[in-house]
Amino acid sequence: MLRSIVIVGFLVLNVAVLCNGGSTSSFVRKEEKTEDMPLDSDVFAVPPGHNAPQQVHIIQGDLEGKAVIVSWVTMDEKGSNQVRYWSEKDKSKPKVSNGKVVTYKYHTYKSGYIHHCTIKKLEHNTKYYYEVGTGKSARQFWFMTPPEVGPDVPYTFGVMGDLGQTYDSNATLTHYENSPSKGEAVLYVGDLSYADNHPNHDNVRWDTWGRFSERVVAYQPWIWTTGNHELDFAPEIGENIPFKPFTHRYHVPYKASNSTQPFWYSIKRASAYVIVLSSYSAYGTYTPQYQWLLEELPKVNRSETPWLIVLVHSPWYNSNQYHYMEAETMRVMFEPWLVENKVDVVFAGHVHAYERSERISNIAYNILNKNCTPVRDQSAPVYINIGDGGNVEGLAINMTEPQPDYSAHREASFGHAIFDIKNKTHARYSWHRNQDGYAVEADSMWFYNRFWHPLDDSTTKKASQ
Ligand SMILES: [Fe+2]
Repeated sequence: MLRSIVIVGFLVLNVAVLCNGGSTSSFVRKEEKTEDMPLDSDVFAVPPGHNAPQQVHIIQGDLEGKAVIVSWVTMDEKGSNQVRYWSEKDKSKPKVSNGKVVTYKYHTYKSGYIHHCTIKKLEHNTKYYYEVGTGKSARQFWFMTPPEVGPDVPYTFGVMGDLGQTYDSNATLTHYENSPSKGEAVLYVGDLSYADNHPNHDNVRWDTWGRFSERVVAYQPWIWTTGNHELDFAPEIGENIPFKPFTHRYHVPYKASNSTQPFWYSIKRASAYVIVLSSYSAYGTYTPQYQWLLEELPKVNRSETPWLIVLVHSPWYNSNQYHYMEAETMRVMFEPWLVENKVDVVFAGHVHAYERSERISNIAYNILNKNCTPVRDQSAPVYINIGDGGNVEGLAINMTEPQPDYSAHREASFGHAIFDIKNKTHARYSWHRNQDGYAVEADSMWFYNRFWHPLDDSTTKKASQ
């Protein structure tokens, strides 16, 4: 009886409130104190054994998914920099690849030995086991390589951002791990550890985040985007090199896409072409990022990779008061290119709430013509803000009112999303809030590919224009 009352109450709470634009969920999350998990939490446990590798994580190591970068940290001494790996099909012939070791200092913090090893010439669609460390401290993991790049290859991406290391972060990660949708790689939209919220950017919190996230990131690649919490720019304590902890700890395959910096780059994975942009690097005309994107977009072949996805930290469309219009200058610079190239979706983070836009563009304005309102545009991407991983800064609950026409759905809750590519025309998108059961979709949409099937895929009634 009690259970049915709870369910009915939940359904009533979930009825969307209709505003000028799309819907604002009336789901009200319980107010809770947000704090990082204590250093002695089990999710931060150091693996047993002398110099045992910790903070193990992987990422795609080339443009097409035949290489993997394996990274880990040893604390006691440098130790072995080798990765031993073998395919499930051929266990009798392990191979060995040698990596490199870096260290860095940040204020009074001195890092462990950070190992990065790229293993190459892997077969597509194959399960590989890999081992790092030696003797009794050796640790074994596995990953699946993606299928060969091609137009109708199904593939399932998880989408997360602004995760941090609170109890809510742990709930988000667990929710993603247990999702029946089974994400095969994560599109991560920036802001990882939030170490910079601790005194002097206590980099011990970069280590705890590495151990916390290992249970997923050691087994599947997360495609990193940099956020403001990766800057660690603190001249007041003598730290004036932006991105120093991030660039030492997390490597990305930026050279494979002719990028000159690890903050903007692209990869192909299955039927998707993923372009990662940097909100916190220069993007004005003539800058390296601008020049790179200008040359990168014409390289996308939609007959090979039908799905064109862009990741960026600070959202270009955001109807939350938090970080409102922060990315406006970047939108002005790059939005015309994304519309021209029929990008399917832009995932962003930064705002600690969830929001999905209509397909809209705001590229007609030229100072003289006064056309400065976003309009429905079937060549434009859908913008999804998913900075709701659950970090120490808490939820962004103050939305602008009324909800603008361009906003299809918004809710101040923590969660993750799944972008499930079925074929070259259809992808099933779903957003899952932490409080619900693993299979519950709090928001969803069938994406029609902008190049191959550019029909209106809006989930809400068209606003009058
Ligand atoms: Fe951010």
